[in-house]
Amino acid sequence: MLLLIKENRNLMETNFKVAVIGSGTMGSGIAQVAATAGCEVKIFDNNLSALEKSKSSLETTLARLVEKEKIDTKEKNRIENNISFSHSLSELSHSDLVIEAIVENIDIKRKLFSDLETYVSPETILASNTSSLSIASIAASCQKPERVIGIHFFNPAPLMQLVEVIPAIQTSHEVLTATIQTITDWKKVVAVAKDTPGFIVNRVARPFYSEALRIYEEGNADFATIDWAMKTIGGFRMGPFELMDFIGNDVNYTVTETVFTAFYFDPRYKPSFTQKRLSEAGFLGRKSGRGFYNYHSELPKPTEDKQLGQYIVDRILVMLINEAAEAYFLNIASAEDIDNAMTKGVNYPKGLLAWADEKGIKWCVEKLDELYHEYHEDRYRCSPILRKINRENKTFFN
Ligand code: NAI
Repeated sequence: MLLLIKENRNLMETNFKVAVIGSGTMGSGIAQVAATAGCEVKIFDNNLSALEKSKSSLETTLARLVEKEKIDTKEKNRIENNISFSHSLSELSHSDLVIEAIVENIDIKRKLFSDLETYVSPETILASNTSSLSIASIAASCQKPERVIGIHFFNPAPLMQLVEVIPAIQTSHEVLTATIQTITDWKKVVAVAKDTPGFIVNRVARPFYSEALRIYEEGNADFATIDWAMKTIGGFRMGPFELMDFIGNDVNYTVTETVFTAFYFDPRYKPSFTQKRLSEAGFLGRKSGRGFYNYHSELPKPTEDKQLGQYIVDRILVMLINEAAEAYFLNIASAEDIDNAMTKGVNYPKGLLAWADEKGIKWCVEKLDELYHEYHEDRYRCSPILRKINRENKTFFN
């Protein structure tokens, strides 16, 4: 398969075979991406009705793209003809690449990967779309762990440009190189991340939610004001509370709690009781009609106080920068990949390390030290790399 990739850079003209396991939100989106790039895609699910739902939702999505004149009917037919649906793992035996997007459960994933190996060829790359599980642990369930890798798409997969590629400690260099080439051929932006909790995006983005919640809990500002500040002054597309309501408080809280536990309870990732209680109350956000906001009544107006707004933005931004700097310091990814991850994976208006350069590293260190002196909490500790760059009068990108 590696040879196939090297010899046929233009996947539109090859019969590169991809299997997607799990036909839910992510699996269907990933299948659309691969089929659009010209791959022959088989989608497998152990639930027949999920497969049928995936088929009809893909048809609806493609028909909508034709209506919007993003693609023509010929292109729609080409993409549809590249996708087939399967209810038997044995039909995936000729795959060059398998991407798993089933339920987020390590035991079920490990069992699937070990079963898969009995059907596919020794060269097939086996990838997981997991958001939070260890790739090393999934790889360890295989006879050939060097063929296993993380390929983490963002929702909705056809629209979000970023894909995190996560080699496990067992993954071979050839598999990493071939995976990067394939995902690049699919016209996605690759960020390579170390196999650590949250990879890049789900780690670096934590303060966007947690510091906003903390500012609210301290009584500094209400949800609407914090959201207003982050959008109007910070330039973010959505405010933290709008975004948490959009993602779902149950889902967002669980990610935070998972990252917190996985980092051995580092206080920087501590979840918030405010969000926990909302989740417990069933106030899950937009999907339940009520979360931080009540969507059945008129939404509250922010207090448009510029000084307060700037305080809110600076505090959340510096915590995000600190997290990005720490990820860089600990070699989770390169500075370029960390910045790409946040702009292309979660649509941040700027890369956080480039933003640090722009604000001034000195400003970042002083802001963090101010917070640390105020609270004496470890959550506000300044990353050593910020201090070092500041001491040496350097920047991240020059
Ligand atoms: P989903 O619940 O929409 O779909 C999962 C599908 O997997 C279902 O159709 C289910 O029938 C099928 N399935 C479950 N166990 C199976 C098995 N043993 N064999 C075959 N099929 C099986 O889930 P979603 O949201 O698509 O997530 C899938 C994976 O992608 C998870 O690992 C998740 O963490 C990850 N992910 C999810 C994102 C999201 O925003 N939803 C973003 C990035 C990654």
